[in-house]
Amino acid sequence: APIQAPNINQCSLPTTQPNDVPLDCCPPVLSDVVDFVPKTPTRIRVRPAAHNMTKEQIEKYEEATRLMKALPDDDPRSFIQQSNVHCAYCDAAYDQVGFPDLELQIHNNWLFFPFHRWQMYFYEQILGKLIGDKDFEMPFWNWDHPNGMTMPAIFANKNSPLFHQKRDQRHVPPVILDLNFEADTEFPDQERIDKNLTIMYKYMVTNAYPPIKFFGSKYVAGDDSENTEAGSVEMVPHSAIHNWVGDPDQPQQEDMGALYSSGNDPAFYCHHTNVDRLWDVWMKLDPKRNKNLTDPDWLESSFLFYNEDAVPVRVKTKDCLEASLLGYRYENVDIPWMATKP
Ligand code: C2O
Repeated sequence: APIQAPNINQCSLPTTQPNDVPLDCCPPVLSDVVDFVPKTPTRIRVRPAAHNMTKEQIEKYEEATRLMKALPDDDPRSFIQQSNVHCAYCDAAYDQVGFPDLELQIHNNWLFFPFHRWQMYFYEQILGKLIGDKDFEMPFWNWDHPNGMTMPAIFANKNSPLFHQKRDQRHVPPVILDLNFEADTEFPDQERIDKNLTIMYKYMVTNAYPPIKFFGSKYVAGDDSENTEAGSVEMVPHSAIHNWVGDPDQPQQEDMGALYSSGNDPAFYCHHTNVDRLWDVWMKLDPKRNKNLTDPDWLESSFLFYNEDAVPVRVKTKDCLEASLLGYRYENVDIPWMATKP
């Protein structure tokens, strides 16, 4: 049976390793969950690459983020609660419905892509609502393109609400990121870029077929999340960016370097829109082979999020398979790694 949306009123305070620090990441309890109703969008918004944003787009994004951070802490749309939504789904705050001994985990398995697509969708809707712009578009950090292989400048600006202190403050532009990052190693920039492109090819093509290898292992009600494996993109470039942004002086490389805290950094959301974009890119690379999974246990899996009106909404994986049906697509950018077969 599919993994079901948790009962949000049964969120228990999780703890985090290695020192079992209790985490207060249970989102506020609200009643009356509604089911998401798909509707045909009237307009398709185009999410821009962060490094191509216009001044006006940057100002809107900053203003919306500022307003989100200014909401009262107990508003489920507030920045802190948006981070909690993520934390609760990755640090055993919820049990699987019907399996009190098993945690609900949305990493290292096939829930990774749909869960994060939905989270970015609602995050974007909330930001748009806060600035009174239903057409607001989240940017994506285009880290698979040489022009996007640094921390986007909008996050490095200390006067911006997009800035975050708990990061590796040495990894700012023009330092080139490392898509296989574990620890800092020295390479000339061009060599680093070439390596990054090869990594992209490997995890988007070579290791991303059959589809289950791209999405991550099957994970259904009653499965122990310790026994599953991440999909190719989740495993390497996605995790590498988390660790590259996180602060090496924190016990678990907080904030981006640890699952529970990564949503505290505004860059998390811009990182994940690119992960989301790569889902689309992968489908288009080879439409005959690269297809969404058809297993009903994947299609019917469900999650809970808060929408722009602070209403808890139950969503299903099957309703997020086409970004265009959620009203957005990504700016078309060159994909140089397609030509970098190792
Ligand atoms: Cu839910 Cu990039 O992690």
